[in-house]
Amino acid sequence: MIALATTSVAWILFAVLAIGWIVYGLANIGSSRKEAGAEMELAANRKPYYDDGVLEGRRLEMVQLLGVLLLIVVVVGLPLYWIFEPSRQAGAREGADSRLAGWGEDLFATTADGGFNCAGCHGGMNAGGADAPYSITDPRTGEVRAVTWKAPALNTIFYRYSDEEVQFIIEYGRPYSPMSAWGLEGGGPLNSQQVDSLLAYMKSIQIERVGCAEGEGDPKLCESGQLPEDVQADIESSARASVESGEYESYGEALFNLELNSGAYSCARCHTEGWSYDDPSVPGQGALGWNLTGGSVNSHFPLEEDMVEFIDAGSEFGAVYGIQSQGTGRMPGFGAMLTDAQIEAIVEYVRGL
Ligand code: HEC
Ligand code: HEC
Repeated sequence: MIALATTSVAWILFAVLAIGWIVYGLANIGSSRKEAGAEMELAANRKPYYDDGVLEGRRLEMVQLLGVLLLIVVVVGLPLYWIFEPSRQAGAREGADSRLAGWGEDLFATTADGGFNCAGCHGGMNAGGADAPYSITDPRTGEVRAVTWKAPALNTIFYRYSDEEVQFIIEYGRPYSPMSAWGLEGGGPLNSQQVDSLLAYMKSIQIERVGCAEGEGDPKLCESGQLPEDVQADIESSARASVESGEYESYGEALFNLELNSGAYSCARCHTEGWSYDDPSVPGQGALGWNLTGGSVNSHFPLEEDMVEFIDAGSEFGAVYGIQSQGTGRMPGFGAMLTDAQIEAIVEYVRGL
């Protein structure tokens, strides 16, 4: 029915156009110009031109002046173009990034605001972390339990991971947790453009770093930058306080286990099963991250400084680390989040587990 209608409409249009052209043609036959005498007499280009006196006088000077003016335009314009073009391009790139981040912000919003609810679990506005309801099933007894799982702050996610690593987490999720796979690759709803938009948005909400090297660009992402001192001081004082109160025995143990920014700074989140839902098993006994107890980790890193370096940089997909180990990119790098002294204290604790 619809196909029939479209064909008929096309035929009618065709007929109207054809008739229109015929009428136009006929109407124009009547009004066309008559043959206008001999071409020699009438053609405009055959009329006698100015004589030499006129041509080489004021007129020539005017044409030369025009030439000089055009030359000035080229001489000034080209260098100006050369000077301004890079910043124009940078501006265009920035504009595109902020548009992308704007779309990402819409996707990140809570369900009530029409988004995919990243904000609902990771905290609104600055994604400072929150709790997510979840049910876990005990594989031995089949018992189902409702828990709240800590969803870490994301405003330091690029301190810890590279772009590709964050993209992987979004696409494949952390399938043992409330963090489901969001990318089409992992079976989720978001296409690669949407994932890119989310990455751009998360970049825009990173805590600005301090101590960036010159020329490194955006202080939210610069590689040599560190957490600002006040945030750093918070970590330090929470850790010290929990040792003083007797909750933990050492500074390193506190840093490993404390809940800071819903676990954004905590090793235990990945290395202690159950830590994320307040039912921790033996500290360091392994979850997403490997078991760090029993000494196998020390045989992976016979030298303490190699372990410090590994925790500083994190693992990289395919790259070797320690002795005969290969990274997956899932172990975050803490070099920009923790001071050298803090990492050393943690390593001391880990080596004693
Ligand atoms: C139902 C709650 C929930 C929703 C919705 C959710 N997340 Fe998560 N997300 C989590 C939890 C919980 C974790 C931590 C999992 C773990 O313990 O390993 C996490 C982890 C992450 C991580 C890794 C953080 C780290 O430091 O290891 C990123 C990145 C992330 N989520 C991004 C997103 C984005 C982007 C969205 C929206 C598309 C989103 N999340 C939606 C709960 C959620
Ligand atoms: C987001 C999860 C996550 C967090 C948080 C995390 N790790 Fe890991 N860690 C891993 C994973 C996964 C591995 C395994 C290596 C890989 O897959 O690349 C690993 C490996 C390690 C190893 C090497 C183990 C071995 O035997 O080879 C050490 C040591 C380690 N982590 C220490 C830490 C410390 C210390 C912290 C806190 C400062 C920490 N991790 C925080 C996920 C995590």
